[in-house]
Amino acid sequence: MNNVNGKYIWVIGASSGIGLELAKELARKGAILALSARREEKLKKLLEDLSGDKHIMVPLDISDAGAVKNAQKTILKSFPQIDSVICMAAIYSADKEKNTSPDFIQKTLLVNIGGAFNVVESLKPQFKKQGHGQIALCASVAGYRGLPNGQPYSATKAALINYGESLKVELESDNIDVKIICPGFVKTDLTAENDFRMPMIMDADSAAKEIVKGISSNKFQIDFPKRFTTILKVLRAVPYILFFPIARKMR
Ligand SMILES: NC(=O)c1ccc[n+]([C@@H]2O[C@H](COP(=O)([O-])OP(=O)(O)OC[C@H]3O[C@@H](n4cnc5c(N)ncnc54)[C@H](OP(=O)(O)O)[C@@H]3O)[C@@H](O)[C@H]2O)c1
Repeated sequence: MNNVNGKYIWVIGASSGIGLELAKELARKGAILALSARREEKLKKLLEDLSGDKHIMVPLDISDAGAVKNAQKTILKSFPQIDSVICMAAIYSADKEKNTSPDFIQKTLLVNIGGAFNVVESLKPQFKKQGHGQIALCASVAGYRGLPNGQPYSATKAALINYGESLKVELESDNIDVKIICPGFVKTDLTAENDFRMPMIMDADSAAKEIVKGISSNKFQIDFPKRFTTILKVLRAVPYILFFPIARKMR
């Protein structure tokens, strides 16, 4: 996809943060959007604010495979096709206690990685029927390496990178383009409770612009800000003998 103008794009996780700014940027550039997340009132407000009058909202919980399938059916009643799905939905907690609770761990797995599987499995047959499609999964630089105090969130992001890599090659012969999005720190509700320094943190609207540029390119990985992600890519490549001493320092 080299231009989003006139494209039918499904943004999941559009009710706040990067997904919300992404929807605004895509609409400004002429895309026709289906907006999903759980909070209907937020989606309604976004729909009112967007430029263009063909957008629709389809609330869903991404961890529910049936709900994802039904949402896709609803979208295809209004849209002739879905050119791209951008999956931004995720949960995270900065609360150490919450992060060790079995309920929260389970929920994080179901939403962050289970949700991506639900979306991909639902859309694959449709994309094959159309003869084209794009899947963009939002991972994170947090998935590059296992750093102290990152769980369970970072494990789901590592899984998303792995999942995206598998899909990229599996689906390319069906003309389905797969991308992973790996942001550094972005100022949103998700990071608001973090009590540590977040180097090179950026605004959600700048992140949205990077994503729009990335989905219109032929790159597999959309990562930003470059100065930060380049350092982490180097860390990703170092052998364990060097990596663990660095990780100990980060702790
Ligand atoms: N902010 C950062 O620094 C950062 C860095 C790297 C990666 N990311 C990734 O960027 C993406 C967007 O995060 P953000 O920072 O913009 O956080 P955010 O403002 O909390 O947005 C998360 C979005 O996910 C949706 N969501 C959560 N659970 C859902 C569910 N069960 N079903 C459907 N939608 C659900 C939320 O909507 P509802 O609550 O209305 O459902 C919301 O729209 C996430 O994948 C996150 O991991 C963020």
